[in-house]
Amino acid sequence: MPLDLIPRLKSYLSPLYLLAVGLACTIVTAIEIVFFECRPKDILSISKWQDRAFSRTWAIIGPAMVNNAEPEIKTTVSQAFGTVVDVGPGEGFTLKYFDTTRITKVYGIEPNTDMHPVLREEIKRCQLSDIYTIVPSGVERFPNGEIPPGSVDSIVCIRTLCSVPNPRQTIKKLYDLLRPGGELLVFEHCAVPDYKVTSTERILQGIYNIPWPVLLGGCELNRKTDEWLKQAGEWRSIELGVSNRATGYEVMPHFLGRLVKAG
Ligand SMILES: C[S@@+](CC[C@H](N)C(=O)[O-])C[C@H]1O[C@@H](n2cnc3c(N)ncnc32)[C@H](O)[C@@H]1O
Repeated sequence: MPLDLIPRLKSYLSPLYLLAVGLACTIVTAIEIVFFECRPKDILSISKWQDRAFSRTWAIIGPAMVNNAEPEIKTTVSQAFGTVVDVGPGEGFTLKYFDTTRITKVYGIEPNTDMHPVLREEIKRCQLSDIYTIVPSGVERFPNGEIPPGSVDSIVCIRTLCSVPNPRQTIKKLYDLLRPGGELLVFEHCAVPDYKVTSTERILQGIYNIPWPVLLGGCELNRKTDEWLKQAGEWRSIELGVSNRATGYEVMPHFLGRLVKAG
């Protein structure tokens, strides 16, 4: 029996737990809409229930997912400084890692308004009320008058670029938001690398990715986010890597790092 059987099995099977919670929350939300709110037609429109189902799902799985990656998330978030754009803060489970001595203003761009009540509580709990503004919009709508191009010191993306629409264009927009010398700080998951094209990890990722976006808020497992970040524009420096706790068997491989805008 190979010695690495346990980490392999853990990595291969753990996405099933996330899918199961997503499915249960989707069913509960559907029942609520059809039977309690008597809006059966709304069930045909994914946009009418997906946000609510995902906010339920993330309330259950989010805290453990954040705790399990605490060293990586803390390293990433605590580097933010100055004016910060926090992309997709969700229910605010990563807010506690901001170093409040380094930041002056934070825009939390969170389009899922079902997540806002818990996010507001978390802002209060982390004593960020004076500097944290929730922006109820998709980040693809920026830059705009509210957050102009070239005005942001740090952008924080924690497991969000897997869900944004048109990820390549959206990443380019994030690049445009940064001022020269501004930093994009990321902890994201991405596609299993190309050299593993026939691997179990790659095959399982492809299978899980069929129900994944529907049950988990539009998240996609097979985005080449790491490559797209590098290609977004001219960077002064790029430091991207995997956690030193990675086993190489991940079906949801994560990477973390910092990209500094040139100029
Ligand atoms: C997996 S959750 C991560 C939440 C949070 N970053 C955390 O780690 O606890 C993904 C988040 O991205 C948000 N999101 C999805 N599409 C988005 C968009 N277009 N712009 C900004 N955020 C988005 C979702 O609403 C959700 O809160």
